[in-house]
Amino acid sequence: MMNQSTHQKPHAILFPYPLQGHVIPFVNLAIKLASNGFTITFINTQSIHQQISKAGRSNINDNEGNDLFSGARKSGLSIRDVSIYDGFPIDFDRSLNHDEFFEAILNDFVFHVDEVVGKLMLSNPSPNILIADTFYVWSSTIAKKYNLVNVSYWTEPALVFSVYYHMDLLKQNGHYDCIENKREDIIDYIPGVKAIKPTDLPSYLQSDDTNMVVNRIIKRAFKEVKNVDFIICNTVQKLEPKTITSLQKYHSIYAIGPIFSPGFTNTFVSTSLWSESNCTDWLDAKPHGSVLYVSFGSYAHTNKETIAEIARGLMVSEVNFIWVLRPDIVSSEESDYLPIGYEDNIKDRGLIVPWCCQTAVISHPAVGGFLTHCGWNSIMESIWCSVPFICFPLLTDQFTNRKLVVDDWKIGINLRDEGSISRDEVAEKVKFLMKGKEAEEMKQRIKKIKKELEDGLAINGSSQVNFTKFMGDLESILQLNHIAK
Ligand SMILES: *[C@@H]1O[C@H](CO)[C@@H](O)[C@H](O)[C@H]1NC(C)=O
Ligand SMILES: *[C@@H]1O[C@H](CO)[C@@H](O)[C@H](O)[C@H]1NC(C)=O
Ligand SMILES: *[C@@H]1O[C@H](CO)[C@@H](O)[C@H](O)[C@H]1NC(C)=O
Ligand SMILES: *[C@@H]1O[C@H](CO)[C@@H](O)[C@H](O)[C@H]1NC(C)=O
Repeated sequence: MMNQSTHQKPHAILFPYPLQGHVIPFVNLAIKLASNGFTITFINTQSIHQQISKAGRSNINDNEGNDLFSGARKSGLSIRDVSIYDGFPIDFDRSLNHDEFFEAILNDFVFHVDEVVGKLMLSNPSPNILIADTFYVWSSTIAKKYNLVNVSYWTEPALVFSVYYHMDLLKQNGHYDCIENKREDIIDYIPGVKAIKPTDLPSYLQSDDTNMVVNRIIKRAFKEVKNVDFIICNTVQKLEPKTITSLQKYHSIYAIGPIFSPGFTNTFVSTSLWSESNCTDWLDAKPHGSVLYVSFGSYAHTNKETIAEIARGLMVSEVNFIWVLRPDIVSSEESDYLPIGYEDNIKDRGLIVPWCCQTAVISHPAVGGFLTHCGWNSIMESIWCSVPFICFPLLTDQFTNRKLVVDDWKIGINLRDEGSISRDEVAEKVKFLMKGKEAEEMKQRIKKIKKELEDGLAINGSSQVNFTKFMGDLESILQLNHIAK
């Protein structure tokens, strides 16, 4: 659709936040834009880049050297792979030193970004669009300096965006950042959000310590986002109609999700930070819909007691399961978290792996349920496979995502609200989801929600139309900027 002879060709720099859950939707966006004639320069931190390419050598054979996008280029897409120093040595444990790392991302990363973008501006063709993760606090500053069209990419649901966007309202009303008499009643004054419980807010907004590094990042990022030209959001208009329409009063915001890779299960660009176990043969031997998939994502940690109760609960439930247990699920210093002899006891009923290709697992017909931390990618992917949920949020937007799944869409049940979980509770919920008659209704509802996703992505569907409109609007601005030069 881009007329190349007279128009300035779109060349976007993509800056994902340095976390697995953000890298995936950024890579999928890169593929989608490049498939529509964009040139993309994709910038990972060196640490993320190295981890993916190390893992990728075992995940994807066709991973040439350290270039993550060589497979994409072979398919004719113009995507360049660049990596950037984040201020720490490669082997620095960013997860264990979370606060120190994100303090640097908040305060110092912009200097490295400035240097890299400055150099890229001298390349040919030079970039003219910046697409940065909404959590970056420097996007409009950098865009202004280099005269780039500025786009903010929000990889979570619009509901979470709205809540952060209206943090000041929460504060004024005594639901956030007030030491005394913090309110615990329902929040019903956020535009486009009918009602939300304080316990459904993202964890950072539930915290009493509002000076934590992530709170400061969010505060600055959501001030910054008010200056961008466009916001794109990995959601679907029909899933969150009121919230999105309300945000559209302030900004050009496009619901363009769900952004999946072509063919759903990514085969030509590595995005995984760890090498993936292949669960296909194990799944092939299990009956249709009989396997519970258990994963707490790439980032959240939990404690040893919780892991042990879930382990015993799964045992008691007598359900088949695949459990993704990252070696650092408790912490990178604590690796012995399963009950003694557990793996021998579960025999062939359960498969425990350090990491896997999630889309490959949940799209397998043997999988019938997902015990999840409620990361947004997990929710979108599982809806796509009509696999309902048991929700066990651990931090950040996961609590808010659970509200959508359990309260609004009714396609999942909640594992627990507060306090520690017990094995009996785990077993009961697992049996309910995997064997209960009532779960059948949930399976019917998730098919309807899946249809909304499909409709959104269809030709003339909302996400497709919005994506085309987004590209057209970008092109118009490029055209104007070009004339202005
Ligand atoms: C974002 O880019 C547009 C033009 O593309 C410009 O009008 C606007 O001022 C920019 N915002 C910032 C904060 O640079
Ligand atoms: C996983 O194993 C199956 C069956 O053995 C095989 O067909 C498939 O190609 C493997 N997947 C990957 C990504 O290697
Ligand atoms: C999409 O919309 C256009 C314009 O309204 C119409 O001409 C076309 O037939 C539609 N395509 C499909 C597949 O519905
Ligand atoms: C996205 O599509 C929906 C449905 O077609 C529409 O209501 C909405 O206004 C669109 N948003 C934008 C920014 O075009």
